Parts: sequence; structure tokens; C-alpha cells
Amino acid sequence: MSNTLPNATRSARISGFHKMSPKQRRAEVESFAGLDASAAEQLAKPGNIDPHLADHMIENAISTISIPIGIATNVKVDGRDVLVPMATEESSVVAAVCNSARQCYDAGGFITSMSGTEMIAQVQLVAVSDPENARLRILERKAEIAALCDSCDPMLVKLGGGFRNLEVRIVDSRGGPMVVTHIIVDTRDAMGANAVNTMAERLAPGIEQWTGGKVYLRILSNLADRRLARARAVWPVAAIGGEAVRDGMIAAYHFAEADPYRASTHNKGIMNGISAVVLATGNDTRAVEAGAHTYAARKGRYTSLTHWEADKEGNLVGSIELPLAVGLIGGATKVHPTAQACLKVIGVSSAEELARIIAAVGLAQNFGAMKALATVGIQQGHMSLHANNVAIAAGAVGDEVSALARILVEKKQVRQDVAVEELAKLRGQG
Ligand code: MEV
Repeated sequence: MSNTLPNATRSARISGFHKMSPKQRRAEVESFAGLDASAAEQLAKPGNIDPHLADHMIENAISTISIPIGIATNVKVDGRDVLVPMATEESSVVAAVCNSARQCYDAGGFITSMSGTEMIAQVQLVAVSDPENARLRILERKAEIAALCDSCDPMLVKLGGGFRNLEVRIVDSRGGPMVVTHIIVDTRDAMGANAVNTMAERLAPGIEQWTGGKVYLRILSNLADRRLARARAVWPVAAIGGEAVRDGMIAAYHFAEADPYRASTHNKGIMNGISAVVLATGNDTRAVEAGAHTYAARKGRYTSLTHWEADKEGNLVGSIELPLAVGLIGGATKVHPTAQACLKVIGVSSAEELARIIAAVGLAQNFGAMKALATVGIQQGHMSLHANNVAIAAGAVGDEVSALARILVEKKQVRQDVAVEELAKLRGQG
């Protein structure tokens, strides 16, 4: 690292940074950070996205970062075979889905369903002395509110979506009671954030007028519990290695169900799969993650997003249910050419279909993690894949990568220092 300038001489107040081209911004960043030529060159490389597009997608763009997209094979969802693109930096995530899906493929794969494609936007009203009265006043305006919401997005209405329902809750808060209006909107193939946020903002003046209160926040809720995707699958006990494996996996689930410390990691594993498909299709990973984790805590204690049990034949049965607010239109999904290509690979015609496949991937991912954890441990599989990264980081190129990775795994020492030593030996320098 040739980061030579002392911090004190550098200012992050770069005037007009947002007006510069990505190239000019890189020059500023290079001099600020004292980047060496190879780091500068790396940032200048175009990925599979046009730099102009990147510059329009976010502010102050200087570069892009490429994450591998792997394909999950063996996935059958509702009787249809699908190849699922997954964008992830973590080795073993894609392999785990392939293996898990293979073990339930002959038993029919994944069966999925969805509760709907409705999103909720919240309007927060404060400073009302009579919240119960205010609540009813808002509810009485349902027809007017429906018309106003629908007028915000005629195209959505034309596509069969639009306002569906109104709920008004009184939320006791540290600052006193708040009257919180929920507008429930079917956003169909859009994730829907823009649509419902616009509606909530348009609705706010009316709510103030009808109640005499003051509106502050007008924003969607990521707890998209009207957009629950579900998947289930049966893993024949013989296909997974017998009863002991099944029982170990069920005990792993019981652990996650009972203990938030374990549930956090269990659900992180599920999100390894889910976020990878969400990212590959240009959807909002943070929205999905926030919704999933909040849903996991909806009963007052954080718990597992999946359920595992044995059926009467002794087979392992898994299921998952979680909010999955993903879309096919709008946002990065629409403008990112790689996301578009991934959507073509997955071959879905609706956001619902995409969400259902993503739920299946989450379940498969969880199966893979639990099976490894309950049997050989996670390191065996994980490390053999991780060994490739360690080999590359040690300087291996071409065929050296897999040769060195093999040596590290055989030695059971997947470590950087060992990799450097072994690479030298491999090259006849050790
Ligand atoms: C690692 O990224 C994910 C796991 O920790 C998930 C789990 O523990 O269930 C293996």
C-alpha cells in the first residue's frame, strides 16, 4: 500500500465532485488516497456495465465491482426445472444449493406459493389529542384514499394493481400515541417502493386536514408481510444419508428455533442464497434482508425462518416462509443489463414467480448448511472451495490455482502463509 499522504493534509470536501466525470472523480480519489498504479488501473476497468450507466445509477460513481454469478442447477420449482443465477462472493453458496436441490429433485423438488404482491406504506401522524377519533376519521375516507392512490399510478392500475386496503393503527410511542395509516397496494411486478412512497406522500395533506394532526414520515414498510413467499420440499431419508443425518438436521433446526444466537447464523445462511438471487436480478438486497429478519422476530423473539420435521415415512420435510419484495420492472432490475440477462436465464414472467423461486433457493441453502453442520462440519466443504481464493491471493495463476488449492486441502491447512510456501515449492523455488 503506497498510501503516503498523512491524513491531516487531505480534505474530503471536494467541491463539484458530483459534477465530474467518473474519470475525473477517479483522479481525485487516486490523489486523495495515494493509490498505486495497479489500484488505479483496477478502478478504471469497465465491468459488465457501461460506466455511463453506472454514473446514472448512483451519485459520484467512479467504478464498478464485479461479483461472480454462479448457476444453481438441479432446481425444480412447481414442476418446472430452472437454472438460477446467484451473485455472491462467498464460495460454497452455489454448490450448496446444487447439492441440496439434487437430493430432493426426484421427490418432486420444491412446491411454492405466495400470499400476494401487496406492499404497505406508512403515514405517521402525531400531535393528535384524540387518536381514536382521528383513526375513524381516516378510515371513513377509504374510497377517497383509494381514488387518490390509484390516480398516482394509472399504469399500475391498468396492469391489475393499485390500492387494495386501508388500515389505521394507534402506536404507543415514547412521544405519545401516533396514528399510523397503512395503505395497502398491489404493486404486481414492481417491487413497488416508488409507487407506494408517492401515494403516501400525496395522502399526507389529506390526513392532516381530516385530523388536525401533523404528518412526518411517509414511507413503505420493509416488513412486507402481504408478500410472503413460501416453499416446501421433501428430502427422502435414503437420499440424505439416513435417519441419523435427518435427526441431526432436525436438532439443528430446533437449536435455531430456540436460540436467537443460533437463529441469526441459521438465517444468515438462508440469506446467502436469497440475497444472491436478489442481487443477480438487480433487486434490493437490503429491503429483502430487512423484511426477512423482521419477519423472523414477528412473534417477539427472533427465530428460524425455516421449519424442519419428519413425515410419517420418516422423510425430512422442510418449509420456509418470508416476505419477498422483488420486482421485474423498475430500479436496477430494469436498467442493469446483467440483471436483465439473469432474468432471462431464470425465465420468469412475474415477480411472484421470481419470489417463489427465491424462497426455494433459501430453503435449499438452509438444507445444505444444516446437513453439513450436523454431519462433517462446515469447514470441509467450505474450505475446499475457499482454498481456491487463498491460492489466488497467494499469487497462483492458471492451473496452479487448483493444484495449490488441492495441496492446502490435503494438508488441512487452508492458510495464506502455507499457500505462499507451497506455491514456491510448486514452482520449484521452495
Ligand atoms: C455461512 O455463510 C453460513 C452458515 O454459517 C449458515 C449456518 O450456520 O446455518 C454455514
